[in-house]
Amino acid sequence: MTSLENGATTLFVCVTCRSQVADVSLPDQPRAGARLLTAIEAMPDEQREGVAVVGVECLSNCNRACTVAVTAPGKWTYVLGALDPDVHAQDILTFARLHRNHEAGLPAWRERPEYIRKNTVARVPALPALR
Ligand code: FES
Repeated sequence: MTSLENGATTLFVCVTCRSQVADVSLPDQPRAGARLLTAIEAMPDEQREGVAVVGVECLSNCNRACTVAVTAPGKWTYVLGALDPDVHAQDILTFARLHRNHEAGLPAWRERPEYIRKNTVARVPALPALR
């Protein structure tokens, strides 16, 4: 699925985020954000259905990396932070599917993964429809 398909939820994943914990990795290893993108892309197809996953550089939330943003035309946009590439791929996709399934992109609070509830950095309303 392309990010431009009508109505598709797009999950932007910052690939330039660095780990927020002491980085014991070698300098030539991928950054934490790139590893998060790889982890999300490695999830089963059915968990990514209807969600376009797109790597981007810097979502301007570097102090709470790793960071992703979930958006779709006519829906709310969410920025999620403090994500661990080794732990949170499933939670991120669960949230993205909830976003995809809600008409306005407003997943029910109780249905959101707990970690996502606690690490939502921002939400932004949809642009008004053009007349
Ligand atoms: S480098 Fe990922 S938000 Fe800035």
